[in-house]
Amino acid sequence: MMRTRTQVGIVGGGPAGLLLSHLLARRGIHSVLVEIRSREYCEARQRAGVLEDGSVALLRGAGVADRLDRQGLEHGGIYLQFGGERRHIDFRDLTGGRTVTVYAQTEVVKDLIARRLGDGGEDAIKFSVSDTEVAELDSDRPVLRYTDADGTRHEVICDAIAGCDGFHGICRPAIPASALTVWERDYPYAWLGILADVPPSTDELIYAHHPAGFALHSLRSPAVSRLYLQVDPDERIEAWSDDRIWAELARRFGLPGWTLEQGPVLDKTITPMRSFVSAPMRHGRLFLAGDAAHIVPPTGAKGLNLALADVAVLAPALEALVHGDQSLAASYSDTCLARVWRSTHFSWWMTTMLHRTPGADELELQLQLSQLRYVVSSRAAATSLAENYTGFAPLPTVPPPTGPLSTGPLSTGPLSTGPLSTGPLSARPLSAPTDRSQ
Ligand code: FAD
Ligand code: PHB
Repeated sequence: MMRTRTQVGIVGGGPAGLLLSHLLARRGIHSVLVEIRSREYCEARQRAGVLEDGSVALLRGAGVADRLDRQGLEHGGIYLQFGGERRHIDFRDLTGGRTVTVYAQTEVVKDLIARRLGDGGEDAIKFSVSDTEVAELDSDRPVLRYTDADGTRHEVICDAIAGCDGFHGICRPAIPASALTVWERDYPYAWLGILADVPPSTDELIYAHHPAGFALHSLRSPAVSRLYLQVDPDERIEAWSDDRIWAELARRFGLPGWTLEQGPVLDKTITPMRSFVSAPMRHGRLFLAGDAAHIVPPTGAKGLNLALADVAVLAPALEALVHGDQSLAASYSDTCLARVWRSTHFSWWMTTMLHRTPGADELELQLQLSQLRYVVSSRAAATSLAENYTGFAPLPTVPPPTGPLSTGPLSTGPLSTGPLSTGPLSARPLSAPTDRSQ
């Protein structure tokens, strides 16, 4: 067993864990980030695509938006389609200039991985680990254990641990069930998503309500489209040939005089739909962030944005904590949950307004159509959608870096070969690690 020491142990190399490790490095805080998947897997996983303007500002402030600024596609609105009409919601006009940016989560992840490895060296992210464990969460020296890709077992003594390991991770289950309150709803539908090698057939995203079910036309670039279809949650992907998918998409988006361009399907997955909030987002020295603490159905495009927002709040809280100030850590959960619940409500509202519930009565259909007509005809209702979609509350700003960007465990070698000595792990703030003085 290799024993080492760090300030913050981070479990999970998705957007939340990667951005947190970068924000901490900018504040001169050391972290160890462990990820069960390989770098290639993390960089290829197809997920979200829409960044709120606050998320763009956060990534820009953190100095990781060069490619986002060059390749991101700014969108000033969306289309809502229902009852044979397609109506535009103009975010810029309704919100005083706010927009969203289409930039794939895979690209955000690639940018953050490249930056962390560039700043901190190959050891900044430990990919392909296994048997991750967190322990001693009630103490002021929580422990992160993992087995590295070469089979060596590690124990990292931390000041705090960030559980950024997604919905199926190990951090939330490490909290006693009696200490958590969970709110959860599974929806009776799923999304079949495709990535297609064809230019988008639209200038803005189309959210389509249709008697056969919801459909969404999104994009990844001027040459690549991303499209989704509502399907049954127990639907098998093998049952959906490319031809069947295109035919169903063309039916649900169909409008006289408009054509859905088709092309080769590059990726095809089915994703269940769930609302889930677990609170508080902190237990002792374990802090949950992103999907580890909450899940929203993707209809409001909020999951990725919430994950980024959590760690924007968590980074200053952890910096203060490792320097002996508990106040921001104490308010972390409540600060994040206010945004989480707003996004949970908005995502539920968009989802239930646009999807057909299997077996639902005609009343549901008439209520949905009435709500959609109201949103496109009332400036107040449209403004509510626009301000929620573009992001309701501002995110904390990112201060300039405090020095050269550091990373890795505080000591590069084993902490000790025998039992841990308590001396170097006393509660005093840690002195500047050696690799920052280079
Ligand atoms: P994740 O991205 O899930 O990252 C968690 C990381 O932790 C992963 O890399 C995982 O491999 C790692 N991990 C897990 N367990 C361990 C462990 N024991 N030890 C170490 N590492 C571990 N949102 C949208 O807005 N639009 C969408 O279209 C959309 N599509 C989605 C499709 C899918 C299949 C999923 C699962 C989510 C989707 N989301 C979507 C939601 C959005 O992608 C997430 O909200 C976002 O990824 C959250 O980021 P995160 O860093 O919190 O979690
Ligand atoms: C996407 O582009 O993947 C996307 C866009 C908007 C959503 C969900 C997903 O609401």
